[in-house]
Amino acid sequence: MTIRVLTGVTTTGIPHLGNYAGAIRPAIRASQQADVDAFFFMADYHALIKCDDPERVAVSRRAIAATWIACGLDVEKVTFYRQSDIPEIPELTWMLNCVTGKGLMNRAHAYKASVDKNELAGAEPDDGVTMGLFSYPVLMAADILMFNAHKVPVGRDQVQHLEMARDIAKSFNHLYGRGKDFFVLPEVQVEEDVALLPGLDGRKMSKSYDNTIPLFEGGRKALKSAIARIVTDSKGPGEAKNPDDSHLMALYQAFSTREQSQAFRQQLLDGLAWGEAKQALYDLLETMIAPMRERYEALMARPQDIEELLQVGARKARSYATPFIHELKAAVGLRDPLSTAGAKPEAKVRKARFVNFRDEDGSFRFRLMDADGQELFLSRSYADPKQAGAVIKALQGEAAADLLRVQDGRLTVQWQDQVVAELDAGAREAIEQALATFRDE
Ligand code: TRP
Repeated sequence: MTIRVLTGVTTTGIPHLGNYAGAIRPAIRASQQADVDAFFFMADYHALIKCDDPERVAVSRRAIAATWIACGLDVEKVTFYRQSDIPEIPELTWMLNCVTGKGLMNRAHAYKASVDKNELAGAEPDDGVTMGLFSYPVLMAADILMFNAHKVPVGRDQVQHLEMARDIAKSFNHLYGRGKDFFVLPEVQVEEDVALLPGLDGRKMSKSYDNTIPLFEGGRKALKSAIARIVTDSKGPGEAKNPDDSHLMALYQAFSTREQSQAFRQQLLDGLAWGEAKQALYDLLETMIAPMRERYEALMARPQDIEELLQVGARKARSYATPFIHELKAAVGLRDPLSTAGAKPEAKVRKARFVNFRDEDGSFRFRLMDADGQELFLSRSYADPKQAGAVIKALQGEAAADLLRVQDGRLTVQWQDQVVAELDAGAREAIEQALATFRDE
């Protein structure tokens, strides 16, 4: 079975080396597996929640798209698109909003963190909290559920959002599914074996710590100057360095073969100067980055090329999303009046029926029941069940006028001059109606 893997990147920044090692490289590798159907997208609607600088969002979307392609993403195999090119996603977001408890959103870590901060500062709890921030997890659920992704690789901070996506999917399935599950329940995939890449100061490499090494931006000069700023201890040339206590070593290891990193480790133990160690790291990174950077720069110089690839991606994504959103809209009652897709199945029409049974004395009898399950008459007894069956068959096939006789206020049901049942004349109309339904079939 192919599994659908989906992940998104919020478009507020320019990818750095930590993004490459922690997200881009593992995602591209995973997408190359034969049984994986990968969906990668730029979460540019999510960007508006965190950032009100239009230029920054615009530049970031382009840079992220170019970076992923330059790093080797196969846009033929992978569905690669921008969230804002898929109008079905905000449509689904609204439908999901309508099945999502406000209480569920109250528990979101990101929202609670804002409230806590406000309380600490003595401000109103919801100060500065937009509806975008508050309902961020619903938009993210729509991203995932729109394509019925099985697996969603994310950072640890996103695990709660995946749990919420599952809860929201369950609510929708339960409310509208009528025995059918519209949404697959997505599974979170936290990349355990991707070691956190340390930044210049040894803490996790992150824009918020301002300790990043750029991937492509600024070219090799910027790479070199960032590496020069890596913090080391004060051991001089010739003094043995402890590789296990050096984030420079950790950075080297993240991008080298086992042999390379073993040799480097030995050189540090043997007293390699920090300046030389930095040069070695630069050479290693530059060799890896240079061909990708060349592709990146070519793409950034031709925005039209990126755009064309993204439009192909959007079409691929929408070929799934468009029919699915129609199905979902129909399920909630927003169906196309000219289409029968998703219409409520016709209620099963209940009909009159014969019920035969064996009486206490061992003989066989039957009842005619009306559509509401009320008994219309009870037949006489037959010794042989086949006889009873033959009479039922006849009653289903003959015209009522030939079967029903009224005399002295009594109604008899007759077949071949035999009285099948005798009852009050007032029942005539109901019996005629019931018998007529058999012949209408
Ligand atoms: N919230 C994610 C992040 O900040 C980005 C994102 C948006 C995402 N929609 C998604 C990730 C859907 C996975 C699936 O990292």
